[in-house]
Amino acid sequence: MTQETRPSILKCEDLGVSYGAVPAVGRLDFDIRKGEFVAILGPSGCGKSSMLNVISGLRAPTRGRVHVKDQELFTPASKPPRLGYVFQSHRLLPWRTVRQNLEIALAASEVPRRDWEARIDEILSILHIAQFKDAWPMRLSGGQRQRVSIARALLVDPAYILMDEPLSTLDEVTARSLRQELTGICQRTDATVVFVTHSIREAVYLADRILILTRGPAEIFEDYTVPLERPRDYDDARISEVEADIVRRVQAPWGLSVEKEKAVA
Ligand SMILES: Nc1ncnc2c1ncn2[C@@H]1O[C@H](COP(=O)(O)OP(=O)(O)O)[C@@H](O)[C@H]1O
Ligand SMILES: [Mg+2]
Repeated sequence: MTQETRPSILKCEDLGVSYGAVPAVGRLDFDIRKGEFVAILGPSGCGKSSMLNVISGLRAPTRGRVHVKDQELFTPASKPPRLGYVFQSHRLLPWRTVRQNLEIALAASEVPRRDWEARIDEILSILHIAQFKDAWPMRLSGGQRQRVSIARALLVDPAYILMDEPLSTLDEVTARSLRQELTGICQRTDATVVFVTHSIREAVYLADRILILTRGPAEIFEDYTVPLERPRDYDDARISEVEADIVRRVQAPWGLSVEKEKAVA
């Protein structure tokens, strides 16, 4: 199936967020489909967190509509969407083993208890951490903990997974290996991912599409389809070319050099 024929997972129409009279998100329209990996790129302060609060169902927008699958959010009848989250920090409970952390997530899902064990085993093996099933989070490296947190997000049949700079606190070698696996993991599990990053290169390497935002209050500057087939190589010169192309495009609208923007992020 081509992307266009796959069902819509997250659709925002005329989305706006203001704090009092001050607009934080100007106007956002986009539609993310099943199985897509979409990166969100924007200068700091442009409204990304405000947008994420809305699309995770935490805060109603000031204007516009959000649909997750067939359901409109923020109506009296709507239920909170079931999402997976991966944040900068792993947010695992330190007094629970890996397996127990995953079971807590499953208990809040609709996965029947009889399937938990098999599902945990499968997901841990996809993420190459099967041997840590009964380990304490403190015993794991940063990269291993982040793998557990990705496993936890995938486990619960989420409508989509929100990843907010999940690799930014890892050392570069660890980040590389997880980054390299991430697309394969998402393809294997047919996950739909919204991935916020400050790294243009990371966005180019991972994403099918990049929603490039304007300076705040955010609008879509460009809905950019990454023109590279998979599998991709992080060190490929073509990644650098696409990265440079995006840097050229955003320099004027973001109003600062991208290097400066990274420094204040
Ligand atoms: N709770 C809030 N109350 C008032 N202003 C806010 C609040 N949260 C964010 N803002 C303002 O909204 C704008 C967008 O912020 P934010 O969504 O955090 O952007 P980003 O995540 O892209 O850095 C900023 O100008 C910020 O100061
Ligand atoms: Mg933010």
